[in-house]
Amino acid sequence: MLTAEENELFTRVGPDTPLGKLMRWYWHPIAAATQLDEYPVRRVKLLGEPLVLYRDRSGNLGLIGDTCAHRRVNLGFGIPEVVGLRCPYHGWRYDGSGQCVEMPEEAKDSSFPSRVQIPAYPVKELAGVIFAYLGPDPAPLLPNWDLFVAENVLHDVGFQVLDCNWLQIQENDLDPAHLEWLHGYFSNYALERMGRPDLKRKRRNPDAEHTPINQRRDWAVYEQGVMNYAKTPDGLREVRPSIFPNVNSFTTDFMYRVPMDDEHTLHVFFTTYPQDPESPTVQEKVPYYIVPPAVDAEMNPIWAELDSNGGQDNMVWVAQGPIVDRTKERLAESDRGILMYRDLLRQQLQIVEDGGEPMNVFRDPSQNTCVIVPPRDGSPLTWEGHNPGMMNRITGPYKHSPIVNAMVEKYQGKDALEGPVH
Ligand code: FES
Ligand SMILES: [Fe+2]
Repeated sequence: MLTAEENELFTRVGPDTPLGKLMRWYWHPIAAATQLDEYPVRRVKLLGEPLVLYRDRSGNLGLIGDTCAHRRVNLGFGIPEVVGLRCPYHGWRYDGSGQCVEMPEEAKDSSFPSRVQIPAYPVKELAGVIFAYLGPDPAPLLPNWDLFVAENVLHDVGFQVLDCNWLQIQENDLDPAHLEWLHGYFSNYALERMGRPDLKRKRRNPDAEHTPINQRRDWAVYEQGVMNYAKTPDGLREVRPSIFPNVNSFTTDFMYRVPMDDEHTLHVFFTTYPQDPESPTVQEKVPYYIVPPAVDAEMNPIWAELDSNGGQDNMVWVAQGPIVDRTKERLAESDRGILMYRDLLRQQLQIVEDGGEPMNVFRDPSQNTCVIVPPRDGSPLTWEGHNPGMMNRITGPYKHSPIVNAMVEKYQGKDALEGPVH
């Protein structure tokens, strides 16, 4: 349970809020480069700020405030030029620093353009994903998390807009109790509703004997965030990290929970696929896909998206409300990981408040060639053992992935799209 003040502190992401300031120390993914190939100007919202991302005709990326300084037209309608973006209304042109560099209807020697500026932020592309940084200068390095710089692999990137605050999604990382209930018991119910009881999993039965989650799982802060561990006869085994502040990594993917504003989150699925040894290819473009919602506008379940972990997670995050009221929650022993994450969040907010830099801010290039995320150990990803894992992704957000679908079609035939649930 949190006080109302702390719930505000942990969830409000605007520029003048403590969490907004903390979040601004990090690079956040906002689009795929291939989205700009389709249309070079995109409206994006990041940390409460409405922005326009564009690629000009020289190939340079820009991220600027979404409103023209002149008479306030939305620059999402702008025209990319050789340098910068031109407002469609009266032709004012802005460069990538947000500086107005042209006012076609003013005198050539007018000094007015030099006195007009709109917000602008740095953007960088890595592995086909465009990242933005809204924090203080100088910008830190864009982290080379291991999967972004893995060799001889394929990538794709999925996007989903969720109508809820980012922290609901991040706290789910530290909540293994939901695996057997949401992804077991509810999942079976969803499959029943979908007329596919044959796909049910043998997971939790409320009447069966079982060992409480805390006797099977544990959590600890590690250098990148909070790690989920499985308790085994040989000791603790790393299972899944929650990377501070808003990333999760599982087997071969990263999931970013990017706060668009207080009540909307862009969930980004970045996936790495070992190359098919039979037909290795050079990937020139990283394809993107859009993950549809699992809950409709009236808060009804969309069953076709609820056959998988991804859809089920989406449902409960939104079902907690736009910002869950943590003053009323009743946390149990099974929620110790969530408390640990909140302690880390408090500590990092304090560091920023005291004028310091929070964790996972990289400045030294020698520490950023490839930042390995455990339990991965830096070994190359291989095809062996991956194909079955891939086949497990044929439902959920990944069923919308062009790479997964191509593999499913190749290895199991199209029917596999309705195959077993992971
Ligand atoms: S409103 Fe943009 S140039 Fe006039
Ligand atoms: Fe889940």
